[in-house]
Amino acid sequence: MNLRRKTIFRKATGSGRSFRKSEEKLRWEKKFTDKFISSLPGVFYLYDDQLKLRRWNRNFEIVIGYSPEELVKMQPLELIVPEDRDIVEEGIRETFARGRSMVEARILTKSGAMIPYILTGGRVELDRIPHLVGMGVDITERVRGEEGRLKLERRAQHTRRLENLGVLVGGIAHDFNNLLSAVTGNISLARILLEQNDTAGLSRSLEETDRAAMRATKLASQLLTYARGGAPVLKIIDSRGLIEESVKFALNGSNVRVEFEIPDDLLPIRADDGQLNQVFSNLALNARQAMPEGGTFQVICENILIEDEAAGPGRRGRYLRVTLRDKGCGIPPKLIPRIFEPFFSTKDNGYGLGLANCHSIIKRHGGWIEVESPPGQGTTFTIHLPATEDEISERRIP
Ligand SMILES: Nc1ncnc2c1ncn2[C@@H]1O[C@H](COP(=O)(O)OP(=O)(O)OP(=O)(O)O)[C@@H](O)[C@H]1O
Ligand SMILES: [Mg+2]
Repeated sequence: MNLRRKTIFRKATGSGRSFRKSEEKLRWEKKFTDKFISSLPGVFYLYDDQLKLRRWNRNFEIVIGYSPEELVKMQPLELIVPEDRDIVEEGIRETFARGRSMVEARILTKSGAMIPYILTGGRVELDRIPHLVGMGVDITERVRGEEGRLKLERRAQHTRRLENLGVLVGGIAHDFNNLLSAVTGNISLARILLEQNDTAGLSRSLEETDRAAMRATKLASQLLTYARGGAPVLKIIDSRGLIEESVKFALNGSNVRVEFEIPDDLLPIRADDGQLNQVFSNLALNARQAMPEGGTFQVICENILIEDEAAGPGRRGRYLRVTLRDKGCGIPPKLIPRIFEPFFSTKDNGYGLGLANCHSIIKRHGGWIEVESPPGQGTTFTIHLPATEDEISERRIP
């Protein structure tokens, strides 16, 4: 009996000790987990399936700035910068649906600071309820590094452009020199020919002088338009006469045939005719150079009413739309983003100022220019210029 009792006693004490032991172990485990969680370097969070915050680490409180009482009442998206909420919402959905997710988003702290983070999520079942457990890591340094790299890249691009400008200015000075030599050389020649009474020779050398001087004038005026970015002197003009004249002049003596489609009721525009003349001459000249064997150049003018914002913000209204279509060599897709850049040219004797000028002139008139060049189908430039219904103050005589 005694023995039995003893045995029972012993058994009872044995189980009491092991109970205490496992209780101790549990307490230790909990302490360890708490310590582990609170010392995690990033932010730690555990949300239940109702998106109620259940556990978090001290760092979470420090970074976010809210008290524990405030935190448990807040939804996770309230702690994210509004623009980044969609992406985080998608991450939460993905975690519950597929088990894990990782997004980059900016945390919005109580003081209004926005800190970039990588936020991870994993789904865990606790008491048969799915929870989202995750950690966030501050990536401010990385983002700063990327911005720094971008800044450096922009600076390098700027330097490259300045270098190009230097080369270009040297080239222009050289060209001007050549043109001036042609002018002065031909004038000296003209003097000699005059003394010899050679009128035919004299006329040839004067023509040469004239050509060189014209080229120098054109180059100077292109550069001035670009450098000064002169404000247009606006008056109401008849665009039909201006477009026809400048295009025909630029195509003079070439094999390019021009087809105009211009309605009789074309609305007048308020424009600087000198500057617009440059636009249409440049576009026609480019078309001419793109079709050395000749071809057709189409110029279509239309009155356009833009009623919605589909064409871009603030673009509602009446416009003169001019479509200039050539069937020339076209522009490779990868060069299209560069053609309006000043000094970009693929031509041996091009300055790359034609389209840069067109772009800035049209912009200063409140319009815009677009280009399309599907491979093998030539090039189409489309210009929109604000139209006016006022009387034409100056009609051109054809
Ligand atoms: N109609 C076109 N067809 C094919 N390529 C074109 C056409 N228009 C422009 N380009 C391309 O765009 C580049 C830039 O044109 P832009 O008129 O600005 O300069 P450029 O004609 O080379 O020189 P510049 O006009 O200063 O004498 C051209 O060098 C050419 O590669
Ligand atoms: Mg050109």
